[in-house]
Amino acid sequence: MEKKLTFLGIETSCDETAASIVQENLDGSAKVLSSIVSSQIKEHEKFGGIVPELAARSHVENIEFIISKALKDAKVNFDQIDGVAATAGPGLIVCLTVGLNIGKAIAGFAEKPFVAVNHLEGHALSPALNNKIKFPYLLLLISGGHSQYLIVNDVNDYKQIGTTIDDALGEAFDKTAKMLNLGYPGGPAVEKFAKQGDKNFYKLPQPIINKAGCNLSFAGLKTAVLIQSKKIKDNKKLKFNLAASFQETINKILKKKTKVAFQEFNELTKKKNNIFVVAGGVAANQSIRKSLKDLAEENNFKPIFSEIEFCGDNAAMIAWAGIQRYKKRLLNDLNVEPKSRWPLDKEAQYMKGPGLKL
Ligand SMILES: Nc1ncnc2c1ncn2[C@@H]1O[C@H](COP(=O)(O)OP(=O)(O)OP(=O)(O)O)[C@@H](O)[C@H]1O
Ligand SMILES: [Mg+2]
Repeated sequence: MEKKLTFLGIETSCDETAASIVQENLDGSAKVLSSIVSSQIKEHEKFGGIVPELAARSHVENIEFIISKALKDAKVNFDQIDGVAATAGPGLIVCLTVGLNIGKAIAGFAEKPFVAVNHLEGHALSPALNNKIKFPYLLLLISGGHSQYLIVNDVNDYKQIGTTIDDALGEAFDKTAKMLNLGYPGGPAVEKFAKQGDKNFYKLPQPIINKAGCNLSFAGLKTAVLIQSKKIKDNKKLKFNLAASFQETINKILKKKTKVAFQEFNELTKKKNNIFVVAGGVAANQSIRKSLKDLAEENNFKPIFSEIEFCGDNAAMIAWAGIQRYKKRLLNDLNVEPKSRWPLDKEAQYMKGPGLKL
């Protein structure tokens, strides 16, 4: 491509209203010209979780302002962008519709190409906002709704080699925080209080640790935290010990399963490229970052993490995924509909529900 590409990205799949302007330089590196994220934490805090109708209403109220601010901060107008990308799934349909519709409207009146982005592809490619990364790479995607090991062969080309069979890791953090009354959102709260606790105090289960390849399971761990949390009532020291022990157990599970994933990646790619990328909201956790960085280095993999500001939901990753899809001519027309479920690897077996054999 001889020209720098500039995209507007829009993200409204869950409880963050976000818009961003990202440019791809001639050498293929990214330049984030603006990234505006308006979190609805305050609105959902009192309910201890996301209320879809409230989230959708809040997106409608904020989106216009957020997009204008992204353009203004980047000093760019609609004429200067090469395309519009908006998240089309997976997520809450009432929320996705807001960003998708405004994205389609802008693309329509500004006569720009439109890309409907898979939110998970946004996370998967997000580490390239700050690093030059070659395909293929091994990805651990750990977020509020997903926990997966994927081989990222290229843009739009994913092979899932492991996934959670029950809760997502972010969900396990959020539920642990709720059970211990540590606050919302749960992940950062557990990380903060874990620092004050003894990580070896509780011995918690590591479900399916020695079976099912690099598939993951956190439901049994969550139940164990629930049982212990009921015993400790308001004893602060024990609460912190439980938060620390939970986080330590997660680190042990991820270490063991990532080792299995390294082996599978090496077998499937014939050791072409030993890069290990970690993305998604939970990748912001410093303890997990440190533990996975050490593990990767011990196993001759180069560890690459999303920048903290691009771990959780943001629109820079959507604009970037939009640019990458545009370069491959993976465009969408303006009739594209939002999707609540949208796996990156369409061939992957669905790993939840009764009858699952491991
Ligand atoms: N420091 C942290 N430690 C652990 N978990 C964290 C941390 N920071 C954020 N999280 C968790 O990350 C999750 C949010 O990540 P993200 O925004 O990527 O998820 P999502 O968009 O809701 O889900 P998905 O991307 O799967 O659709 C929440 O569950 C949150 O608790
Ligand atoms: Mg997300």
